[in-house]
Amino acid sequence: MVVEEVYINGSYVPAAEASISVFDRGFLFADGVYEVIPVYGGRLFRLQHHLDRLRYSLAQIHLSHPMSDAAITSVFQRLLNGRSDDASIYLQITRGIAPRNHAFPDNITPTVVAYAQNLVYPDQAHRDAGVRAVTYPDQRWERCDIKSISLLANVLARQFAHEHDAAEAVLFRDGILTEGAASTLFVVHDGQLLTSASGHSILPGITRELVLELACNHGLQCQQTNISQRQVREADELWLSSSTKEILPIVMLDGKPVGEGMPGPHYHQIIKLYDDFKLRFRNGEVS
Ligand code: PDD
Repeated sequence: MVVEEVYINGSYVPAAEASISVFDRGFLFADGVYEVIPVYGGRLFRLQHHLDRLRYSLAQIHLSHPMSDAAITSVFQRLLNGRSDDASIYLQITRGIAPRNHAFPDNITPTVVAYAQNLVYPDQAHRDAGVRAVTYPDQRWERCDIKSISLLANVLARQFAHEHDAAEAVLFRDGILTEGAASTLFVVHDGQLLTSASGHSILPGITRELVLELACNHGLQCQQTNISQRQVREADELWLSSSTKEILPIVMLDGKPVGEGMPGPHYHQIIKLYDDFKLRFRNGEVS
């Protein structure tokens, strides 16, 4: 399925007819937030985590949540239309439609858009052999903890990676690793699993949280900390994670091998734990 139906402010319309006003502040100012939620076997994966992060993002941009969790979940269910395969939900909420003026307009109704689409899995070849990445300066704003639709800097970083035959851009700000253009990064260094400290510089990734949970529960020492450019270059393993890419090993960085230049033993361990978790989720054993 490509996108069939789009939810816009209470209506379900065929994708070809789905449209938004040019005066929507999402279009004019990127004044909005979004979520991407994977669906496995018809079930919304880590749903409450995504809904909580959405609530957080909305609060940070002073936009009151236009819907309850239950109402938004029933929109997702209707979009999934009883399907029991894998998919993903895209949800975007903007401040709404008003004449262009930077400050918030009074009495504006937020625009809520959601649709279901096929989940594009990472290639098995990428899981088996790993992917290439390039480093790039983090040129984003200082509130990357908000899942904002203002993604131009992320787009430019990912395009740079693409033009350099790489799957992801590894972003640094003042010599410290932040994250990928659209992913969280993990570094295995000195037998420890490191990921960037939470705060305003990174998105609190839902997959990040699960990776940390699985790794820590299975004896890997994990640390959320500042990671230097040198630690990344000396890493034994480097991974990226996101809701749609799951966990992928990065085996080449700026044309040089990461560790042995192939997915390492810790990656093999974490991807097995992740796949097991997904299987239990599909079977309804975990939420
Ligand atoms: N992006 N960091 C950034 C900047 C991201 O855009 C994403 C995901 C992540 C990983 O977050 P999560 O594990 O919650 O998916 C980290 C989504 C998938 C996107 O923009 O399509």
